[in-house]
Amino acid sequence: MTMQALPQAAAQISEQPIFELIEVEQVFEVPKPGRRLFSRDTVGLRALDGVRLSISKGTSLAIVGESGSGKSTLLRVLLGLDRPSGGRALYHSKPILEARSRGTDFARDVAMVYQDARGSLDPRMTIGALIAEPLRHFDIVPREEEAARIAQLLDRVGLPADAANRFTSGLSGGQVRRVAIARALASEPSVLVADEAVSGLDVSTQAQLLILLQSLQRDMGLTLIFITHDLGVASYLCEEIAIMYLGRIVETGPTDAVLNAPTHPYSAALRAAAPQFFEPLSEPLSGEIPSPLDLPKGCRFSTRCPKAQADCQLKDPQLGKFGSQRAVACLQPLTQI
Ligand SMILES: Nc1ncnc2c1ncn2[C@@H]1O[C@H](COP(=O)(O)OP(=O)(O)OP(=O)(O)O)[C@@H](O)[C@H]1O
Ligand SMILES: [Mg+2]
Repeated sequence: MTMQALPQAAAQISEQPIFELIEVEQVFEVPKPGRRLFSRDTVGLRALDGVRLSISKGTSLAIVGESGSGKSTLLRVLLGLDRPSGGRALYHSKPILEARSRGTDFARDVAMVYQDARGSLDPRMTIGALIAEPLRHFDIVPREEEAARIAQLLDRVGLPADAANRFTSGLSGGQVRRVAIARALASEPSVLVADEAVSGLDVSTQAQLLILLQSLQRDMGLTLIFITHDLGVASYLCEEIAIMYLGRIVETGPTDAVLNAPTHPYSAALRAAAPQFFEPLSEPLSGEIPSPLDLPKGCRFSTRCPKAQADCQLKDPQLGKFGSQRAVACLQPLTQI
């Protein structure tokens, strides 16, 4: 390699996505509906079905979709907690499970904030001890600097230093989420993954946490992967959005572009269901999400899609490029490039 080629090679390396999912499938064997008592008949439930996703460094990505669309299953694959039953799930171009099993680097670099923050924190431990746990596990600071680092982390998430001596039982819902975020940040991760981290809180507490998460993402250059039901939250916090339906990502792109001019009828329907943030559309989504045990023929959204044509029941559209920054899986896109 010549000297001139080096900067270009370095640029290519830095553009490599952190996570890449290529045709990822996750099939769970579940009891066959209507099976006889004591029968062991099972059937494959396709919780993820051909998921394609690329997450680049420093981005903030919202994963949205109705209950049962596969968001948490996708997250478990990204975190290396479950092995996908098909396709490839990569972290810095290596299989996620391989990265996770090789030492502590992956666990240190990819931190998680759980939906049930209170349930994920031991009520018998002080907040200081809860934050000290990852500091010690990953050997982040010498013991004599531990108290100062805990105070620094508490300050970063907007909690007073004396919170270190208290227990989670004495904290409000919003404060407990802040502790969970401080604990996640203790290992100095570059990726923060959160499953519904601000749901179930009153509006002003939610807004304060969103402001905190946004400042952390910007100041620390974190890559943020945020699961939410709430398009308002997604549009406030995340530059990119991936919309899931029945185990597949049906549209991705910059959040503003996708929400202002949805290309997939499902994205449009989700937006219509969030009138507090957007003008309601005239065709709200009807019916319920079908069971993944009985996927519709052709396009999986065709049974509820107001734009469905005859070929939508025959062809299963794959996620394909739509313009330079977006991708959509639809035979009848609402907007043209
Ligand atoms: N371990 C499992 N065994 C069997 N089925 C599962 C398992 N985990 C998830 N599923 C099924 O996979 C589908 C997707 O579930 P998942 O929890 O990923 O959805 P979700 O989008 O996170 O929903 P919610 O918004 O309600 O959290 C559902 O039909 C669910 O019942
Ligand atoms: Mg979930």
